[in-house]
Amino acid sequence: MNIQAPAPDFALKNEEAPFDISELFFSRTDERGVIEAGNAVFQRVSGYEWSALIGAPHKVVRHSDMPKGLFHILWARLKAGLPTGAYIKNRAADGRYYWVYAIVTPIEGGYVSVRLKPTSPVLQTVFEEYAEAVRAETEEGLSAEQSAARMCERVGGLGFATYDAFSSYAIANEILARDRALGREEDQRIKSLKFLLPALKEIESEQKKLFHAFEAIRGIPSNMRIVASRLEPAGGPISAISQNYRLMSNEVTEQLSAFSSDDGSRNLSDTILERVYRAMFIVAAARVQREVGENAHKAIQTGDQRDGFQYESEVLETILEDYMRQSTETLASVYQDIARLMQSSKDLKQLVTGLDSIRVLCRVEAGRLGSNSVALTPVIDQLDRFHVDIDRTLERIVEHAAEVKRLVEKAMPRSVSRTMYAVHGNMTRRGQRANGLT
Ligand SMILES: Cc1cc2nc3c(=O)[nH]c(=O)nc-3n(C[C@H](O)[C@H](O)[C@H](O)COP(=O)(O)O)c2cc1C
Repeated sequence: MNIQAPAPDFALKNEEAPFDISELFFSRTDERGVIEAGNAVFQRVSGYEWSALIGAPHKVVRHSDMPKGLFHILWARLKAGLPTGAYIKNRAADGRYYWVYAIVTPIEGGYVSVRLKPTSPVLQTVFEEYAEAVRAETEEGLSAEQSAARMCERVGGLGFATYDAFSSYAIANEILARDRALGREEDQRIKSLKFLLPALKEIESEQKKLFHAFEAIRGIPSNMRIVASRLEPAGGPISAISQNYRLMSNEVTEQLSAFSSDDGSRNLSDTILERVYRAMFIVAAARVQREVGENAHKAIQTGDQRDGFQYESEVLETILEDYMRQSTETLASVYQDIARLMQSSKDLKQLVTGLDSIRVLCRVEAGRLGSNSVALTPVIDQLDRFHVDIDRTLERIVEHAAEVKRLVEKAMPRSVSRTMYAVHGNMTRRGQRANGLT
């Protein structure tokens, strides 16, 4: 069916089509984005009769302030089977506008979009970003694809590695803002995931410090050997110590690679960050999906629905189950990553303790050489500082990782967190005992 949208009343274009923050709405489309169903809120807010909506392409509510780049991102992701969150400004039949945050989920034979009213401060950033994208499209003539690439690039400037990360952060903030506005307790699971981000960023920066610190002491053993050659016969104690220090610091450097992800190419905390954002999106999507599903269920009970609504309710239920399953899986993998990171930090700490004992030996040997060892002093002083820094850095990593672990547990459904603790909690303690850390 090809229904022409009624000519909008331009006098109303700066007015907002109202809907309550407590309201959620959804629509279901086929694979081309042609509307097949929706709930009463969608119909009311859009201002179209059902007869004009069903069979119409979803662009019937398209607003000219929306950059085509955003729809390019949306469709590219949907076609790849990825659920996608996006802020969308829409136009109602009478020309008024309304903003939504939409979570669009691919389903068998099409898509379902569930929308809420955005109220968080992230929306202000989106106003500016979309206005800039529309400007680039009109003034610079960017194609939808070019504009999408530019939009994703600009997301980097906002402090997010990907569009995914940005849209996850946005939906988490929208749900928390909505909870507050409705006088509800803020969603604890989403809140925990949000609080986890600063701790992860700290881990990442401490890890970088660790890499740099080891880079900086690379030259020390050979400096030591050069000094030793002037102080003692070949193969003397200082040169043996420096040889040991070199071997052991190589071992530590190898251990440092445990901070990389499975394929060794990326920083483990980057991988964890990506998974946390994914978990954030899925937990948030499940939360919205559950509420819209409950509303649909109530509408069936009160008879406030169109024919075939039972089917829509079942579709919503299936999506919810899928998000719930995915959220458990994703959080479990974040938990495993964190357990791995903690274990690596502890192993590293133990190796550094070994390295430190060589430093102490070096001090003792220098003392034995008395005033002859003056040339060694700056080298040993550098090692002293290095060890103090490394100890602090490793301690901070372990502390932040413990905080992340605690928050991941809080973000998990209770039954799952108990199971994970039983498996990983014990495993970690066993590992610690084996390493003599407890
Ligand atoms: C499930 C689903 C929901 C959508 N919701 C909207 C929407 O609310 N507003 C909108 O303008 N486009 C929406 N779209 C995207 C439209 O299909 C279309 O790509 C967009 O309006 C841009 O149209 P154009 O590229 O023909 O200009 C949705 C698509 C799908 C699959």
